Amino acid sequence: AADMGRDLSKVLIPEDELQAKIKELASRIDEDYAGKDLLIVGVLKGAVMVMADLARALHLPVQMDWMAVSSYGAGTRSSGVVRVLKDLDTDIAGRHVLVVEDIIDSGLTLSWLVHNLKSRDPASVEICAALRKPDAVKVPIDVKYVGFDIPNEFVIGYGLDYAERYRNLPFIGTLAPHVYGAG
Ligand code: PRP
Ligand code: MN
Ligand code: MG
Repeated sequence: AADMGRDLSKVLIPEDELQAKIKELASRIDEDYAGKDLLIVGVLKGAVMVMADLARALHLPVQMDWMAVSSYGAGTRSSGVVRVLKDLDTDIAGRHVLVVEDIIDSGLTLSWLVHNLKSRDPASVEICAALRKPDAVKVPIDVKYVGFDIPNEFVIGYGLDYAERYRNLPFIGTLAPHVYGAG
């Protein structure tokens, strides 16, 4: 079984800093969408933790919906071709939509997703991402709310997985090289 302590090489963002940042983003969102009807959309599965914490930090009466997407093809997401595994239950025509993500890596997932959502005639589409890797971005993405810019390292926790594990860590850590076979 995995030993989550030994598999970590370091804690990049501790739990209290993450939670403080989410609260900060939530108050900006509260202000920006005051008086508006907001739908927040979480991208499964990575966004589960951010959605849960962000939603509870908001004072706005939001609605929540989910999408599940997958890169097309085995193992690589460099193509930017995305498959919808679970679509929204909500008709977003005329709605203010805020897409919530755990991380923007290459930007390909969100670039595709925002384009897809905008074709449904919403009132607005914005993005809130807990993390962004500026050095990994392949497609420029217009992100309104970003938690932290981080180095281009393999990060886990707070929704982020390596081979479907470590999502439940309450902080962001980097994975020890021995876990993915480099050492
Ligand atoms: C991860 C992450 C983002 C996406 C970012 O999801 O949660 O959704 O990759 O990468 P990109 O900017 O290079 O497109 P993943 O496809 O691993 O699915 P998961 O959320 O279920 O882990
Ligand atoms: Mn994801
Ligand atoms: Mg993943």
